[in-house]
Amino acid sequence: MSAVAADGRGEERSEQGTPVNRYPSEPAWRAVDEYFTEALVREDAALIAARDSGSETTMPNAEVAPNQGAFLGLLAQIAGARRVLEFGTLAGYSTLWCARAVGADGRVVTFELEETNAAVARRNLERAGVADRVDVVVGAAAASAQRLIDEGAEPFDLVFIDADKPSNPVYLAAALQLTRSGAVLVIDNVVRQGAVVRADTGDPRVEGVRRLVDDIVAHPDLDATAIQTVGIKGWDGLILARRR
Ligand code: DHB
Ligand code: MG
Repeated sequence: MSAVAADGRGEERSEQGTPVNRYPSEPAWRAVDEYFTEALVREDAALIAARDSGSETTMPNAEVAPNQGAFLGLLAQIAGARRVLEFGTLAGYSTLWCARAVGADGRVVTFELEETNAAVARRNLERAGVADRVDVVVGAAAASAQRLIDEGAEPFDLVFIDADKPSNPVYLAAALQLTRSGAVLVIDNVVRQGAVVRADTGDPRVEGVRRLVDDIVAHPDLDATAIQTVGIKGWDGLILARRR
């Protein structure tokens, strides 16, 4: 039994057949997340519905925590982002935070592999009244990104990379072709319960993060840091980067 299902999908079960918490979390971490989420974040009905509908996707509970969604939205606003690109839609929970952050004249493009997940996301965005400012693009994210590159898409101001982790380096490379100077990059799930420090896990998701870090270091125009997080999603973290 491992902490996370080998394919990163579905509900993992122990050898005894009981469900395993994919995001092991301390009660104290949860209490703090719940306190700040209730006190500060105050999700409305559309956000709650989007979060709940994660259970209808191929990867339940993988959406960002409410306080992380709010953080992403605030980052987009602080950056003055009008155009946001997202790798990995699922039910569109973080998409909704971004869509609200860019405002009525803004645009969010979000890549989702599974049509069934995209349908859930579109419903959530419609319910929230922001569907007209979001493109949910179905297909492999690398191919969808390449299409935008080939079309000479208008550059994005903020990119959120939160899809299949082994492809992180590919998504970073694409993001760098689709952003302007000053653009903000956020990459989710880069700590993975501390596994990121181990070069020998053989876990392609950890390797995807470590290669991403190498690529950021090697890039001449990226300033970056990483922040560990604990909370209802367990122990994880994010990378924040900016193009010079
Ligand atoms: C996984 C993916 C996510 O985007 C996330 O937030 C948590 C876990 C995963 O692949 O296990
Ligand atoms: Mg994530």
